[in-house]
Amino acid sequence: MTEPLRRLSLDELRLRTSAKWRTHPPDVLPLWVAEMDAPLAEPVARALTEAVARGDTGYASGTAYAEALDAFARERWGWDGVVAAHTAIVPDVMQGVVEVLRLITGPGDTVVVNSPVYPPFYGFMEHMDRRVVEAPLGDGHRIDTAALEEAFGRAAAGGRRAAYLLCSPHNPTGTVHTAQELATVAALADAHGLRVVVDEIHAPLVLPGARFVPYLSLPGTGSAFSVMSASKGWHLAGAKAALALAGPEAAADLERIPYVVSHGPSHLGVIGHVAALRHGGDWLDGVLRGLDENRRLLAGLLSHHLPGVRYAPPEATCLAWLDCRALGLGDDPAAVFLERGRVALTGGLPFGSGGAGHARLNFGTSPEILTEGVRRMAKALG
Ligand SMILES: Cc1ncc(COP(=O)(O)O)c(C=O)c1O
Repeated sequence: MTEPLRRLSLDELRLRTSAKWRTHPPDVLPLWVAEMDAPLAEPVARALTEAVARGDTGYASGTAYAEALDAFARERWGWDGVVAAHTAIVPDVMQGVVEVLRLITGPGDTVVVNSPVYPPFYGFMEHMDRRVVEAPLGDGHRIDTAALEEAFGRAAAGGRRAAYLLCSPHNPTGTVHTAQELATVAALADAHGLRVVVDEIHAPLVLPGARFVPYLSLPGTGSAFSVMSASKGWHLAGAKAALALAGPEAAADLERIPYVVSHGPSHLGVIGHVAALRHGGDWLDGVLRGLDENRRLLAGLLSHHLPGVRYAPPEATCLAWLDCRALGLGDDPAAVFLERGRVALTGGLPFGSGGAGHARLNFGTSPEILTEGVRRMAKALG
């Protein structure tokens, strides 16, 4: 069976009507937003089709999502800490992050993030009137303990409530935080009185060589929250659903989540995510093999066509963080690639400090499309 990322042609992909395929004109090759160019996992497609056939299109309810994640977490990560009673279904990961932060901080309070980071971490914080303090990643895109400690100190100054929004694995660098790094985070947060909220949406997309450690599996994380989803792993962003999980000491906080939040997730979304977690393992393994090959292919393509670009193959995700500063294209190289090369990457500036001169490339596609994408980037320079 052909691997999922090799199954669709460009013509087939261009029939899609989602943001990736309709934001730019048809002569642009889209390698930007984190949608994957694979067909749906067969068990997911079947579950959704069957739900539609029986008119099972009402409101979401129940603990099926938590139970499916529990089974997946045990099998993949050897973690038995998903307790259905300590979870809430939420509309998507970012809405889950927002609702959890509303439980533990108030308007004007501070949220610490590790820049460069997924731009909505800034957008949603601004939207909910929280102040962002950056703790830039350090060498090798790893968490910089000194920067984190300094940021925690500033965030908690004056005795205000503060939180740390950790991205694990990290978007855009694909860093997979180690158990040791996460234990240090937990100790520092505890020492400064910050609550930790971890966005673990990319956890299923950890590539060979790295190991995902669920934050809540570590000692000293009982007051933290995680938000997880099948959305990135199985290309289900359009089937909205996610799960917020509370550590044992945060469970009472999660119970205060307003009932109306449960109106947000789509029942069809929950059905799709449950099918992915329960029956999508083989498909996911095929995607992971494809991403592993593509991250290496990209290294070869860049060193051949664009040797000035600095790229460290990510440990997770379908995203490559490209340091284009040596190309002399200014702060927003993605704008030049788009205009002159007709290839769309995500510009680095909205990722916060450390984003200037960078671009993010989505390699969750076929080797042919990836090759053509880099060829177009090179053309933009020529
Ligand atoms: C780190 C991170 N969090 C959240 C999201 C968005 O997830 P959702 O659509 O479930 O809010 C993304 C999407 O790419 C992401 O990379």
